[in-house]
Amino acid sequence: MISNTTASYGRVARFFHWSIALLVLADIALGLIGKFTTRSGDTVAFLQLLYSTHKTIGVTVLALAVLRVIWAISQPRPVPLHPERRLETFAADTAHGVLYAAIFVLPLSGWVIHSAEAGFAAIWWPFPQSLPFVPKSERLAGAAANIHWIAGILLAAMVAAHIGGAVKHALIDRDGTLARMWNGRAAGNAAAHPGKGASFLATIGIWTFAIGGALIVFAPTHNEDSASQLPAQQTEGWVVQDGNLAITITQMGAEVTGSIANWQADIEYDEKTGKGTVKTVLDTTSLLLGPVTDQAKGPEFFDVAAYDTAVFQGDIVQIDGPRHRASGFLTLVEQSVPVTLDFDLEVTEGTAKVSGGTALDRRDFGMGTAYPDESSVGFSVEVRIDLVANRAG
Ligand code: HEM
Ligand code: HEM
Repeated sequence: MISNTTASYGRVARFFHWSIALLVLADIALGLIGKFTTRSGDTVAFLQLLYSTHKTIGVTVLALAVLRVIWAISQPRPVPLHPERRLETFAADTAHGVLYAAIFVLPLSGWVIHSAEAGFAAIWWPFPQSLPFVPKSERLAGAAANIHWIAGILLAAMVAAHIGGAVKHALIDRDGTLARMWNGRAAGNAAAHPGKGASFLATIGIWTFAIGGALIVFAPTHNEDSASQLPAQQTEGWVVQDGNLAITITQMGAEVTGSIANWQADIEYDEKTGKGTVKTVLDTTSLLLGPVTDQAKGPEFFDVAAYDTAVFQGDIVQIDGPRHRASGFLTLVEQSVPVTLDFDLEVTEGTAKVSGGTALDRRDFGMGTAYPDESSVGFSVEVRIDLVANRAG
């Protein structure tokens, strides 16, 4: 049967229940895997796929939830099987109420995070990216993330209790509760239908407490590990304590040395094999180059207004003793150029010292085309890197 009766769930109600249950369980798992995956250069692509899947599943849940509620309102609800067990019936009804609300609160709070933060992982077709009326705002994204997190905990606790209840009915009471949701069997005395007022109030109370608590108590803390941040300086490999990234150019025959103040490095290195990987993200807006800083940041060179980051990603191999080489690609002003950087690495008691450098040719990146010879600005750009890192953990 398509429709419910007062003793059974019809096909449509069961389709909504089980499809949403499956998608919600998958999304809880994906959300938690995402939360506990280290943010690093190596995991960025994985996290992007994971969150796009998570978000698209979540928005699908929202669409199904809207249809489900419209359907449920138009249908009779099957009566409880043991109306005389008043506390148990109240608990089950409250859990159902909290679960119904959760399939709205979670997708909506998630969608607010997504709309309010600068893009990270897209929601896939056919859903729109942003909710109307949600501005781009870190604060709003943070508040929504708190609600999402606390609502996720509440949902997981309720699902656990709900599944526990279903198993108890099947194994201990041996009644038709699970069967009537599973295959539509009729069960229960259709005449008995107690009021739902108390469980409705309890549902509202629980959600008010959860969302209020998420906004008040947790507000200042949760922001830090937002999924949209750049890979953090800390990885399971090495944590950079201190470092300097110096740049030297030649202008009118004289050397000018400056630096890039803000950068982050994710380094993994295995001392036994002498092999590792490095990913460095440079904030080119923090470039300082003495008197020619503005010129260097301008459209002719680093063009920081259009490209505010540069990325070096490569593999590290040991050449001989402390001598190492990082080979990879430097992406700057949208040009990816192969770069090798030789450096000395000394590891003593969990602290690594790195010092090395490389020379780049500005023409490889299409920089300074208005200066086709070296009379004004030299072709070569020297890069020196010195850093101290500690082993993480
Ligand atoms: C049934 C629906 C959903 C469930 C059960 C769910 C559950 C979760 C869980 C358990 C987490 C990990 C805990 C956390 O970091 O807060 C999470 C994270 C996240 N979810 Fe969802 N989610 C759902 C829908 C959505 C939707 C529709 C979106 C966006 C369109 C979304 C966006 C996010 C984002 C951006 C994070 C990372 C939050 C952060 O880093 O602070 N979620 N979700
Ligand atoms: C896989 C685990 C699950 C099992 C075994 C299960 C089992 C059941 C059963 C047997 C019922 C019928 C209760 C009755 O007739 O009184 C039910 C109803 C319900 N379940 Fe689940 N469920 C599961 C997962 C979920 C999840 C993840 C959600 C969250 C969205 C959910 C939401 C609901 C709701 C809202 C109802 C009430 C439906 C109504 O009467 O309109 N269930 N579930």
